[in-house]
Amino acid sequence: MITYQNNLFVIEMQNSSYVFTDGDVPANVYWGEKLYGEELGYLVKRRGHSSFDQNLDRNREEYGFWDSYSVLESCLKVNYPETRKLNMHFQDYSIQTEGEKETLILRFQNEDSPLTAEIIYEIFPEFDMIGRSMRLKNNGEEVVIENLKSGSVSIPPQKKYRVRYLSGKWAGESHCNDQYLENGAFTIQSRTGNTGPHFNPSFALDNGTADEQSGNVWFGLLGYSGNWQITFEKTTFEDVKITAGISNFDFSYTLKNGEEIQTPIMYVGFTVGGYGKMSRTLHSFENRHILPRRQTGRVLYNSWEATCFDVRVDSQKELAERAAKIGVELFVIDDGWFGQRHSDKAGLGDWYVNKEKFPNGLNELILHVKKLGMDFGIWVEPESVNPDSDLYREHPDWVYHFKDQEPMQARNQYTLNIGKPEVKQFILDFMGKLLGENPDISFVKWDMNKTLMDVSAGNTATDKELWYRHVVALYEIWEELRKRFPNVEFETCSGGGSRIDLGILRFADQCWPSDNTDAYSRLSIQEGFSYFYAPRIMTAWVTDASTGDSRKYERPYSYRFHSAMMGMLGIGANISRFSEETLEEFAKYIAQYKEIRETVQYGMQYRLSSLRESPLHAVEYISENGEDIVIFAFHQGFHYDAAEPKVYPQGLCPEAVYQVEGMEETLHGSTLMNAGLETSLYGDFDSKFIHIKRV
Ligand code: GLA
Repeated sequence: MITYQNNLFVIEMQNSSYVFTDGDVPANVYWGEKLYGEELGYLVKRRGHSSFDQNLDRNREEYGFWDSYSVLESCLKVNYPETRKLNMHFQDYSIQTEGEKETLILRFQNEDSPLTAEIIYEIFPEFDMIGRSMRLKNNGEEVVIENLKSGSVSIPPQKKYRVRYLSGKWAGESHCNDQYLENGAFTIQSRTGNTGPHFNPSFALDNGTADEQSGNVWFGLLGYSGNWQITFEKTTFEDVKITAGISNFDFSYTLKNGEEIQTPIMYVGFTVGGYGKMSRTLHSFENRHILPRRQTGRVLYNSWEATCFDVRVDSQKELAERAAKIGVELFVIDDGWFGQRHSDKAGLGDWYVNKEKFPNGLNELILHVKKLGMDFGIWVEPESVNPDSDLYREHPDWVYHFKDQEPMQARNQYTLNIGKPEVKQFILDFMGKLLGENPDISFVKWDMNKTLMDVSAGNTATDKELWYRHVVALYEIWEELRKRFPNVEFETCSGGGSRIDLGILRFADQCWPSDNTDAYSRLSIQEGFSYFYAPRIMTAWVTDASTGDSRKYERPYSYRFHSAMMGMLGIGANISRFSEETLEEFAKYIAQYKEIRETVQYGMQYRLSSLRESPLHAVEYISENGEDIVIFAFHQGFHYDAAEPKVYPQGLCPEAVYQVEGMEETLHGSTLMNAGLETSLYGDFDSKFIHIKRV
C-alpha cells in the first residue's frame, strides 16, 4: 500500500517498508523491516553538519537531478546549448492501481524549459519488491542527455556493508564475489554493449552476517541488456547509496522536442530471511512478473558439441533418432546450417539453407524429427555478420564502423547496426520467413557472439546513441517476433551467458548460462546464477567434454546428469558414438528428470551447502505443494579421516512425515532437518540424487 502522510511517501509491503520525503529532492529515510506507518514522522530528521557540508540529505536522494550540487553519483544530467544546470521542481504525484500492483508516479517540472520527469515506483507487495524507473519528456528545445540512471536506493546504517555480486568471463560466468564497502565508490558495469560476462547487473547487500537462512538482505537487478552501471557509494557520514542505470561510458542521447525516453527498470527488494529467501523471492517474482509465460521446460538435444559447424541432414537425422530413443523432446540444430558456414570464418549473415548440407531443404530434417515425436528448434545469430559473407559484400555500411576505418573483428565477425531501420527490417524479414515457412520450428536459440566495438555509423553527433539504440531495436525485434509467433520459445545466448538480465528475460523463455559445460565447473556457475535467476530459465547440457578445450573432463555420467538436472536438462554429447548401454543409461536419467522437473523448474530452491565453503555441494528443491523434494549432492576432495558428509534439508514441515526413497523407515520433517541425511558420498566427482516424498 502506498500512502502520503506528513510530507512522506510510505510504501508498505508484506514484510517491509520503504519511506522517502517529498519535495524537489526526495530523500530516502528508511528501507527495511516493516515499521508502523503512523510513527514514521519520527524518522525524518533533516541533517546538517556544517556550512561546508550543506544538505546531507542529498546523499540519500532517490533520484539525483544534476544541478551542480551533487557530490555523489547523480541520475540525470542534460545539457542545453547554454546551461547544464537542471532546476527540477516537484509538482504532484498519482497512485495507479492495477490488480495487486500499485504504481506511484512523482512528477517534476524543469524551471527553465518544458522538460518533465516522472519518477516511477512499481510496487510488488507480496515480493517486497519495487520497480524503479524514470520517464523524461521534452516539449521544448532539444537537450542532450549525458547521464541516464533508473534511480538510487539507500541502505540504513549497518556495522558493515557486504556487497555480493556476480563476476566472470567467457566460460566462467556468474561466480559469486563479496566486496566490503569502505568510504568511496565501487562500481560494477558492462561496456561491451551486451549485458556482459564480466559482471551481471544484480547485487545483494547485507551487514556481513547474513547467511542462507537468516539476516537482512537488500537486493537489486537492472533490466537492461546493454552498457549498464551499478555504483555503490559509502560516504564519511555513513550513507550508502546505490545508483543503477545506463552506463555513462561513451553515452549521450539527444531528446528532441516532443520526444520522451524511459530508463530501464531497476528492481529492488528486501528480505529478513537471508540469501536463500532472497533467491526464492526472485525466482517466484521472475516466474510471475518477468518471464513471458509459464510452461514446463522440455528436455532438449543440441548439436553444437557433437557436430560443430558440420550440421548435415544425415548426421542430424542419426542424432535425432538416438535422441528420440533416450527421451529427448526438443531437437535443436545449432550453428552451421546456413550460407557457406563451415567454420566461424564465413557465412554469418547469409540466412539461406545450405544446399550441400540440406539438399532438400530444412523440411526433410524437421519432418524426420516430428515423426520421431520431438519438436524442432534452430540456432540464429541475427546481429552479426562475417566479412566473408554475401550480406557484408552487399551492405558494408550496415556494420558499426568509424568513418573510413576498417571495423575491428572478434570471432571473425562484425556487428550489424540494428538501430538502422533497414537492418532491423532485414532481421524481421528473414526471421519471419524462417519461422513462417517452417511452422514446425518451435524453438529459437538467439546467439550474439561478438561484443559491440566501433559503435559508430560515421556520424560523431549521433554515434554515442547507438549503444542504447541497439538495445531498443533488439527488444523491439524480440517483441515483434513473439507477437507474430506466440508458440515459439526463445533462448537468449551470447557467447555463453553474456546476455542474461531482467530486460531480455521479458521476452526469453530460457537462457544459456555458459559455454562451459563441464559438470564440475558448472556447479559454481549455476550457484552464482541461482542467487538472482530462476532454475526454470537455466539450461544445462550433459556433454562429452567442455567446449573448446582438448583436455578431457572425466566425470561419471551420473555426476554430469545430476549437475545438469538442477535446471533445464539438455543433452549435448555426441550420442551417435554411444553404445546401447550408454544410451540406456542416458534414457534412465532423462526419465528420472521428467518425474521431478516440475519440482526443479518451479519449486522452491534451497542452497544447502556450497563448494565455496566445504567439499560438499548440495541443492534442494521443494515442489510448490510441498509434497515432492529432491536434493542433488556432490562431493569433492574426500579426506580419509573425514566423517561422511551429511545434508540437512531445509523448508520441510517439522510435523509432517516424509519418505526418503530407498529408506525403510519414514521420518518427521524436524528429524530430517536437524539430524540430517547420510549421503554415502566418497571420493572425487561423486554425486547423489535424493528423492523425498511427503507421506
Ligand atoms: C556460442 C554459443 C554456443 C554455440 C556457438 C555456435 O559460442 O554459446 O552454444 O551456439 O556459439 O557458434
